[in-house]
Amino acid sequence: MSSQLASLNDWVASVAQLTQPDAIHWCDGSDAENARLVELMLANGDLVKLNEQTHPNCYLHRSSPSDVARVEHLTFVCTRHPADAGPNNNWMDPAEAHREMDALYAGCMRGRTMYVVPYCMGPIDSPLSRCGVEITDSPYVVANMRIMTRMGAAAQARIEREGSFVKGLHSIGELDPNRRFIMHFPEELSIQSYGSGYGGNALLGKKCHALRIASYQARTEGWLAEHMLIVGIENPQGETHYVAAAFPSACGKTNLAMLIPPEGYRRAGWKVWTVGDDICWMHPGADGRLYAINPEAGFFGVAPGTSEKTNANAMAMLDHDAIFTNTGVTADGQPWWEGMTSGTPAKDWQGRDYDKAVGPAAHPNSRFTVSAKQCPSYTAKAEDPQGVPLSAIIFGGRRASLVPLVLEARDWTHGVLVGASMASETTAAATGAVGVVRRDSMAMKPFAGYNFGDYFAHWLSFDKPGAKLPKIFQVNWFRKDADGKFMWPGFGDNMRVLEWMLKRVTGQAHAVETPVGNLPLPADLDTEGLGLDAATLEQLLTLDRAGWKAEMESIGEYLEEFGDRTPEVLKAERARIAAQL
Ligand code: GTP
Ligand code: MN
Ligand code: MN
Repeated sequence: MSSQLASLNDWVASVAQLTQPDAIHWCDGSDAENARLVELMLANGDLVKLNEQTHPNCYLHRSSPSDVARVEHLTFVCTRHPADAGPNNNWMDPAEAHREMDALYAGCMRGRTMYVVPYCMGPIDSPLSRCGVEITDSPYVVANMRIMTRMGAAAQARIEREGSFVKGLHSIGELDPNRRFIMHFPEELSIQSYGSGYGGNALLGKKCHALRIASYQARTEGWLAEHMLIVGIENPQGETHYVAAAFPSACGKTNLAMLIPPEGYRRAGWKVWTVGDDICWMHPGADGRLYAINPEAGFFGVAPGTSEKTNANAMAMLDHDAIFTNTGVTADGQPWWEGMTSGTPAKDWQGRDYDKAVGPAAHPNSRFTVSAKQCPSYTAKAEDPQGVPLSAIIFGGRRASLVPLVLEARDWTHGVLVGASMASETTAAATGAVGVVRRDSMAMKPFAGYNFGDYFAHWLSFDKPGAKLPKIFQVNWFRKDADGKFMWPGFGDNMRVLEWMLKRVTGQAHAVETPVGNLPLPADLDTEGLGLDAATLEQLLTLDRAGWKAEMESIGEYLEEFGDRTPEVLKAERARIAAQL
């Protein structure tokens, strides 16, 4: 037996000793295994079968009503020194955290089966991929991990070869919100989660491993783990440029990743290819470019709002072999959520008779789990072990005012400042009151596994001799007019902005320099057939100097939150822009 296998076996044995399961099952990821788990879940009520004619092999899971979202206040990064976790994380001393978790885990799997789930984040044969093993007592978690990761025998073989893997321990416990913790031990490459069966808390390969632990690991190994979609844009000449984009949760990553270009663009030969919709791992290649992989194998997307109009690619992949969590359901057993253009809900997400007066049919954070291979725009390049070279990185958030439709950063340092300063507004009140700006650096506030000051420094470190880094842009699809209406049509029409960006990359488009970055003139964007009036477009592309002056002050205060861990270079960049304004 290899020493790696021994260490995996020892760990599994020690967890079994602590948690006392009735049985241990090592998952191989096979269809037969999945079929048995589905049968078990249909019998115990974890899953409800959906309409076999319209939705073959589709199931609905209703979670505990108090367990429907990530729990940031119960999520901890446990490093020896609190400053290493940083003010951007909740911190707990590792020894104390282990004591608390051991007490929760003691005997928690009595009467249950313990599943050992080996998985690989990224293509199984990619040097950029990393492996983990999740131990869980939830068959629902196993079924989701099978879709979201390369799970089973091949991953286990790689782990036995390589030795290093992230150890994740998960138990649904009693699903009691008062006995719930999501603990990260980046220095031990381990995760411990208790008391929740919900996606981000329970599918440990996703946010816990591929973002929090991986971002920490990436810093020590010289790469980046980011909350970004990856998309390929093919121009009429047949050249494909890959773009990664970081938007906070519920700000349109899944939409942009599966964008369908406007009719005119499609006729001209533009195509959009999906690589990933939530997480991006970027490594510098031998040629100096950044290469990106999507560590996931599936999509765990927000259901409400997904429709033929907003995301036809997503709709096309959801009519077979999918798991729906907390959506409503029609009388004939089809999944239903708000925003759907047809069908009528009969039961709501808690299984009650649907009553509009009580609330929405689907929980606002209801989700679908589906293999990426089912997405019509998914590209084989997503399986390339080398990853895809990035031409551009985009940062964006919800800003009802101030931030223009698109801005190009002058250089990498400026781009890192743009990412670090990212913010998203709480939904603007109907009265037109200014939304509360919450900083969410690189959309990683809930996910960076270490101090943001060190994280900014790590980003800056990629700018070295020989590097051919992607251009960095900022976008804002969410500008609102005085009536609170979105000024930019968004969705497929975001293609028009992507075209400008790519033409900046290849030196074919014009821009105007301003202190906060380079802006297109209205004429530089293709707005044919949009019906957007000139004044609105002008406003979307205008620099509000007074507003930006105040913004730079606020960014200055924010950077101080990380004290002397914030790189001087970043502070100087901010000061220079503030002075120019
Ligand atoms: P996570 O999966 O939670 O990380 O979030 P995400 O970034 O993938 O969010 P998602 O794509 O599910 O965001 C959906 C929300 O963004 C919905 O409310 C959409 O209506 C809205 N949205 C997406 N693209 C656009 C756009 O171009 N314009 C406008 N106005 N809204 C958009
Ligand atoms: Mn996300
Ligand atoms: Mn998403």
